[in-house]
Amino acid sequence: MPKITYIGLDDSVEVEATEGQSIMRAAVLNGIGGIVGECGGQAMCATCHVFVEGADCELPDIEDDEAEMLECTADERRSNSRLGCQLSAGSHFSEIIVRLPQRQV
Ligand code: FES
Repeated sequence: MPKITYIGLDDSVEVEATEGQSIMRAAVLNGIGGIVGECGGQAMCATCHVFVEGADCELPDIEDDEAEMLECTADERRSNSRLGCQLSAGSHFSEIIVRLPQRQV
């Protein structure tokens, strides 16, 4: 089963995700604070911003709509910034480690 590790300000939590579940959806369903997912995964809010610290494979390139929203993140964009709703367990990674930004709004 795919694994997602969320590193927060004070702790880190490992979650087993189902195939096709995004980093954002798995966080919301497992009560991970720090990811909002306001638009439900439509790449229209940037409240699922994460910093990817490691993945077991090469992640897909950032598409135009994701790149546009990454310009609107509450916390400053970094070279490893991604939208959690655009990366899905199984199709994009089997294991991934993401750090949560200090704020999403
Ligand atoms: Fe809105 Fe990802 S949930 S951009």
